Amino acid sequence: MNPLKKKQLRLIGIGGAAALFLLLLPALFPMSGKPGPNLIAALGRFHILVLHFPIALLFIVPVFELLARTRSMGSVRPAILPLLTLATLSAMAATVLGVLLAYGDGFSGEGVRLHMWGGIVTSVLLIATRLTKQLSARTPLLYFCLLGLSLVSLVLASDHGAALVHGKTFLTEKLKRTPSEISLDSSIYTALVQPIFRNHCYECHSSDKFKGDFRMDDFTLLLAGGESGMSGIVPGDPEDSEVYYRITLKPTSKGLMPPSPHLPLSTNDIDLIAFWIASGASQSPTLQEALQSNPSDPVAELIRATLQ
Ligand code: HEC
Repeated sequence: MNPLKKKQLRLIGIGGAAALFLLLLPALFPMSGKPGPNLIAALGRFHILVLHFPIALLFIVPVFELLARTRSMGSVRPAILPLLTLATLSAMAATVLGVLLAYGDGFSGEGVRLHMWGGIVTSVLLIATRLTKQLSARTPLLYFCLLGLSLVSLVLASDHGAALVHGKTFLTEKLKRTPSEISLDSSIYTALVQPIFRNHCYECHSSDKFKGDFRMDDFTLLLAGGESGMSGIVPGDPEDSEVYYRITLKPTSKGLMPPSPHLPLSTNDIDLIAFWIASGASQSPTLQEALQSNPSDPVAELIRATLQ
């Protein structure tokens, strides 16, 4: 066998083994929802650091591919393969660390699983892209298709990851909730409170899935509460409402909602929910009525300022 062919076969072998390893990760570190060894969790937390490398590196590749075709910047061509190698290796590292993080910290659930498979598919696609770039220099069509697919897969996986931590509409919520759409006649529940529940809680507490036997998308069931027997919401009394209790637990408490890896609700969101409960926790009152029933609350000041 000529040495060139031998080298190609070796590359394909290494790539195949790496892809197989990634595909086996979920079986090697199954998500039971129970925390694993602390050492694994400590290592896994580097996922949050490493994940930025493949995102940045991979986006430079198509830019360099374009530049390599221009007269003045053609000299960037030799950098493309090393860049792609770094993007692939860092994507693999981020995926492995992510799986260790979920295993070590005891994460589970649909969102985590979706994000994990996003990372695995992106890494496998990148391995294929990297191999194709080196092995078929003269037929770049397959390479460009794989590069495009890797980018799409990376964007989807990152989006699932961000939704997991920050809530579903993190990137767009500030654009949507413009004060002009909310007026004194809007229902405080529909305009301000329900969007928080929808973004941060419905994933686990709505018609598809009601963890803790608790549904929040149905107003009666939201007030009624779940398996603990405590009322979800006690109108007029945040302190007695299980929902308020669960969103204000210490970040280290096991019962905190939403559970990790989701970030706790922001202070603004928590204050708004407390304000709504204190002002009667009903679906119908408008912002105007809610502001009148609790005029001296700091949140009332804030809402008034937003509306002006
Ligand atoms: C990733 C899934 C997930 C998300 C997201 C989530 N929860 Fe939960 N929730 C659970 C699980 C699992 C339980 C049952 C275990 C327990 O009681 O801690 C639960 C239980 C509860 C309970 C107790 C019900 C009872 O009476 O026993 C409340 C209240 C609650 N969640 C509120 C919320 C709120 C409010 C949000 C959003 C801010 C939220 N949850 C987001 C998974 C989730």
